[in-house]
Amino acid sequence: MVEENPRHATAQHLPRHVAIIMDGNGRWAKQRNLPRFAGHKAGVESVRSTISCCLDLGIEVLSLFAFSSENWRRPKEEVGLLMNLFMHVLDNEVKRLHRSGVRLRIIGEIEAFSPALQQRIHNAEALTRENTQMTLCVAANYGGRWDIARAARRLAEQVVAGRLDPGDIDSERLAAELCITDLPAPDLFIRTGGEQRISNFLLWQLAYSELYFTDLSWPDFDRAAFLDSLDSYANRERRFGRTSEQVRGE
Ligand code: IPE
Ligand code: IPE
Ligand code: MG
Repeated sequence: MVEENPRHATAQHLPRHVAIIMDGNGRWAKQRNLPRFAGHKAGVESVRSTISCCLDLGIEVLSLFAFSSENWRRPKEEVGLLMNLFMHVLDNEVKRLHRSGVRLRIIGEIEAFSPALQQRIHNAEALTRENTQMTLCVAANYGGRWDIARAARRLAEQVVAGRLDPGDIDSERLAAELCITDLPAPDLFIRTGGEQRISNFLLWQLAYSELYFTDLSWPDFDRAAFLDSLDSYANRERRFGRTSEQVRGE
């Protein structure tokens, strides 16, 4: 449990929202002479341990990038297996998440998924809607550009309908049309797998997030690795454009 870990001392600097690109599954499997899919399957355990750590620590929101709008470009077989895994995880984990008080949110263009998968997504969201322990936001067929373009389209529709003056469009107005308007922006962004890029994740919302990259593959990202990332976050000074002296009140 977290209480046994001396690093719990950093609790006062905990992020409210952690967003993770779970990368490196394929390479993890390849290193073990396994098919890429074995890496995706192994990654489910890291999802479980990260969620349970967030619950233990009281982190309010965890966002996980599960499938990007660009991941359709992968071999058909891998895409199919990923969809099956997604269904399987929804079938097997949702009850447990619900019991733990987790509210599940799926963000992305889910209309592109099979009716069966869409149904499971709707059911999981409906079942967990009132939960308050933590929000788990899963990005599936999500792209940051899609999110921003959709918000722009919604604003344009309001202008055309005569409900909005173009002069009133500012960043707050646009942000209100994005997928996760009711949640705080990610304080900490983590990417596993060694790459140092955003890959079209929450482009708008990551504007002031602290970025953390690790070479560990997602299946190797355990509780200790997550606590390391929280340690790193706790030692950052977030200035939001101000000077260090201002932030420290000197
Ligand atoms: C991330 O792992 C999972 C998804 C994109 C679904 P990858 O499958 O991208 O693993 P690597 O980057 O090829 O190792
Ligand atoms: C980002 O990983 C998407 C997810 C983890 C779901 P990718 O493996 O698809 O990213 P790139 O292609 O290396 O940038
Ligand atoms: Mg990858």
